[in-house]
Amino acid sequence: MSLLIDDIGELVTNDETGAGPLGILRDAAVVTDGERIAWIGPAARAPQADTRIDAAGAAVLPGFVDSHAHLVFAGDRAAEFAARMAGEAYTGGGIRTTVAATRAATDDELLRAAGRLVAEARRQGTTTVEIKSGYGLTVADEARSLRIAGQLTGETTFLGAHVVPAGADPDEYVDLVRGPMLDACAPYAKWVDVFCDRGAFDGAQARAVLEAGAKRGLGVRVHANQLAAGPGVRLAVELGAASADHCTHLTPADVDALAGSATVATLLPGAEFSTRSSYPDARPLLDAGVRVALATDCNPGSSYTSSMPFCIALAVREMRMTPAEAVFAATAGGALALRRDDVGRLRPGAKADLTVLDAPSYLHLAYRPGVPLIRTVLHNGVPQC
Ligand code: NIG
Ligand code: FE
Repeated sequence: MSLLIDDIGELVTNDETGAGPLGILRDAAVVTDGERIAWIGPAARAPQADTRIDAAGAAVLPGFVDSHAHLVFAGDRAAEFAARMAGEAYTGGGIRTTVAATRAATDDELLRAAGRLVAEARRQGTTTVEIKSGYGLTVADEARSLRIAGQLTGETTFLGAHVVPAGADPDEYVDLVRGPMLDACAPYAKWVDVFCDRGAFDGAQARAVLEAGAKRGLGVRVHANQLAAGPGVRLAVELGAASADHCTHLTPADVDALAGSATVATLLPGAEFSTRSSYPDARPLLDAGVRVALATDCNPGSSYTSSMPFCIALAVREMRMTPAEAVFAATAGGALALRRDDVGRLRPGAKADLTVLDAPSYLHLAYRPGVPLIRTVLHNGVPQC
């Protein structure tokens, strides 16, 4: 089944065939064939297709690639958010509250709640989402979190080393995570991640878990430098991680290490918003040539948003990214952070994942914050709304 989207006023391809850093084509059309893009070019030369969507001059973008989310959990922590807005600091200690609620939930409840968040994200233009475990922290609870995540995405991440569970000895817990827990989880995971930060895992503990995961064939990603400067970013680079995530507290040496590497710096402005923390400055990263992604970090504690447009607006207003840099980071950047070349860009052969905006330009995503600008989402070539 083929589909023609025509009368596109501004088509963001992120591909070198178009103009500027976003590869923009004007007065364009896209033809999809099943799950893939078959043709892109001037609307006047568009071939026929079985069905047609008239974009009526609107902007069309690749679907957002949310490369960092924690969607398998039960309960919420609205009271903790309220306390923070009244001046309390975020320490990550509330993770254990969500762990208790998650362990008490049934598989069905967890799947339905995570599915609702995926649907919520999709309505806001997200067509690829990564989902982490990390609210189970026992062998059985981590494995079931990943089984549930795998029903919703192919981008599943084992985060048994999220925090040390209440009452456990840290070194014994690390041995559990890199031993029996990894054995049980690796079949359901594509990636391994560790929260390497103050109050979570130190550099040596993080290295032990990440190396064990890599040995099992999992790709590496790291929660790094969120709460304090530390070894996380440099460890990520040393281990060839696809992504170092948060990067809120970076030293010049961290920026240099990222600049000489293939590790993407994934910025998560929803976390700074929701923990009332200072935003990282994206400028030194971008100016040094570091590849940057934007993601939601959607979770009930530090960033309970599934909205990539919200993160784009924050990145532009608070992190010194241009609208073009932010949109690229939320699409092609996320794809790089997941080492995917079939999403995040629109070109023949890529997945037919795209959004039609209720706006004439991608600029409106930052210019009109909080406004529902996603008119239509195509996922695997199928219109979602
Ligand atoms: O990425 N930083 C570690 N983990 C999550 C927060 C989890 C929580 O507070 O529940 C994050 O921000
Ligand atoms: Fe996170």
